[in-house]
Amino acid sequence: MFNNIYNNKKVLVTGHTGFKGGWLSLWLKQLGAKVYGISNEVYPDPSLYKVSEINSQVESHIADIRDLNSMLSIIGKIEPDFVFHLAAQPIVKIAFDNPLDTFNTNIMGTANVLEAIRRIEKPCIAVMITSDKCYDNVEWPWGYKETDHLGGKDPYSASKGAAELIIKTYFHSFFKKQGKIKIASVRAGNVIGGGDWADSRIVPDCFRAWAKGDKVIIRSPNSTRPWQHVLEPLSGYLQTGQLLYNPDKVNINGEAYNFGPPTDQNYTVLDLLRQLAINWDNQNADILQIESGDFPESGLLKLNIDKSLFHMEWKPTLNFNETAKFTSDWYQAYYKSNEVNMLDFTKDQISEYIIVAQRKGILWSLK
Ligand SMILES: NC(=O)c1ccc[n+]([C@@H]2O[C@H](COP(=O)([O-])OP(=O)(O)OC[C@H]3O[C@@H](n4cnc5c(N)ncnc54)[C@H](O)[C@@H]3O)[C@@H](O)[C@H]2O)c1
Repeated sequence: MFNNIYNNKKVLVTGHTGFKGGWLSLWLKQLGAKVYGISNEVYPDPSLYKVSEINSQVESHIADIRDLNSMLSIIGKIEPDFVFHLAAQPIVKIAFDNPLDTFNTNIMGTANVLEAIRRIEKPCIAVMITSDKCYDNVEWPWGYKETDHLGGKDPYSASKGAAELIIKTYFHSFFKKQGKIKIASVRAGNVIGGGDWADSRIVPDCFRAWAKGDKVIIRSPNSTRPWQHVLEPLSGYLQTGQLLYNPDKVNINGEAYNFGPPTDQNYTVLDLLRQLAINWDNQNADILQIESGDFPESGLLKLNIDKSLFHMEWKPTLNFNETAKFTSDWYQAYYKSNEVNMLDFTKDQISEYIIVAQRKGILWSLK
């Protein structure tokens, strides 16, 4: 898998205490990497990090990416072979409440991490995670391509568009000439999966409510999102790292890549919740309550994934129902049984996902 390139490598994951960073850390550990993490906090229970005991799998550093000196010192000491930068303020609503904090973390934090990588003496691969929201969303019905305009009408989206510009600048001004650091930026949309307990995200809101026997409140039932299981973009990020390290047909250094579901697989919030409710064995329409939202969020956002397909032969693995099932299974294991070891369960889901990918002939899983 991934040409075995992560085995015995030093891999730094920023945002390792978060949802995507936690899953990525466990997957990297399974691939034989020595995993290091940088995050500014460990979220209280429940969090994937605590529930799945991810601290037992990584060398964890609690530090703020807004602090350049900390980044220089920690990253300089680790001298990672790979960096996956995920640390961010990722919630649209929080960015409306506190735009400057979001700009500092998502823009200057990214610049600080890049600056620390620039000063490492040895070669390093950097995979920089931004978002589908980095695009100027003009609400058109087709998917955004990597060459479309960056933008952001709300503070979170603007912070991710700006992070993309900084990444591009570091590539063109420094890394391209030096050749020592190889870099790509990767853009994905809303991911779902076990262990997300963030506020103001629909899937965590859902399971939090259902676990207590409450209704879930839906702000924008008809918004379509490119829903994916968290392991889908992570497979793309890992393949990006692999191809930067070991180029195949195409030189992907300095490029940006979208990872998303097939374009014909765009479901509304309501479609998703209905499917999750079926798996939660609580099929009662009564568990959904629709209310209007109080802040603007884009209604339509799709990614075009042709570039990832052509350059990397990357494809999504799970269909919509499998995505919902993986997600519900995880929360059921957590909420409905005291017996389950969630570290083992999470690792087993990664193995199960790999088996499905192999069965479907997905390239990264085969060699
Ligand atoms: N979850 C999604 O649906 C989604 C969609 C698109 C893009 N993304 C992007 O993926 C990345 C990970 O998202 P997530 O859902 O795992 O978020 P999360 O909130 O679960 O985790 C964020 C992580 O970043 C860390 N962090 C935040 N501020 C920091 C700071 N100042 N210094 C150091 N660490 C800091 C947190 O401690 C945590 O470990 C983010 O860049 C996010 O914007 C997420």
